Amino acid sequence: MTIAATQLHPLFFGRVTGLDFSRAPDAASVAKIVEYSDRYGVIAFPETGLDDARHVAWSRAFGPLELAPHFVGSPTTRRLSLPELFEAGNLDADGAITKPDNRGRLFARGNKLWHTDSSFNPQLSKYSLLLAYVVPPGGADTEFADLRAAYDALPAGTKAEIADLVVVHDMWHSRQLAGFPDVTEEQRKEKPPARHRLVHRHPGSSRLSLFMGAHASHIEGWPVEKGRALLRELTEFATQARFTYRYEWHVGDMVMWDNRVSLHRATPFDDFAYKRDMRRTTVIDAAAA
Ligand code: OGA
Ligand code: MN
Repeated sequence: MTIAATQLHPLFFGRVTGLDFSRAPDAASVAKIVEYSDRYGVIAFPETGLDDARHVAWSRAFGPLELAPHFVGSPTTRRLSLPELFEAGNLDADGAITKPDNRGRLFARGNKLWHTDSSFNPQLSKYSLLLAYVVPPGGADTEFADLRAAYDALPAGTKAEIADLVVVHDMWHSRQLAGFPDVTEEQRKEKPPARHRLVHRHPGSSRLSLFMGAHASHIEGWPVEKGRALLRELTEFATQARFTYRYEWHVGDMVMWDNRVSLHRATPFDDFAYKRDMRRTTVIDAAAA
């Protein structure tokens, strides 16, 4: 089968078909996927037939993988056997729907805010690959926003104002926005903030892009509230309908997004009534280290 892509949104988001995920990743397929990812920013692979081991193997073809975190206060028992798999659904260690006070459920609330994965780490994550195992009624779609197109559309004055700004990204900032309780000093020390440029050139496309989202706490060297207002304004701008695409999941679909040029968020569903089983790998941007 030939590998081919169809663009699903006027500005970004491709649907890629023709890959044989039952095989080990090969250099030609991996190069083609990177080419499509660089062009579209977010790409969906319908009905991959992947399982945990091959999900991890294909992800690793793009670079070293992050290990799912074990911060102070994060869930101590895990449902997923491979350490590279992040829990993105609503299931506990026994595969049951999480209880209201489950730490994982509280953490997952942050996924409903527009964000880019792991931007609170000093070393960025370039790709996330999210695979659907159980899709609840109503779909629980994921929304994506194109940060390169949003940057392009900014007024010239804004581009000049933000060109050299540095943003402080803090995991606890987004957790607090999502209603996460009692962040302790110990937790803050365990996961300190990281700094990243607000505008950067995406290496794979040479296009400029914004880089912010829910972990973006404030602007370095600016009064905190002034920085937050600017970040809020930019996020509102970048997530207007004209820059966003809403993906409807089917079991077996995998979506791969480039965290350096896109934002994403989970949409609400009846998560006390229905199971949603989604598993994610995250590829570290080793070249940027
Ligand atoms: C993620 C994430 C959104 C969703 O896995 O990083 O934000 O819809 N997921 O599950
Ligand atoms: Mn995410």
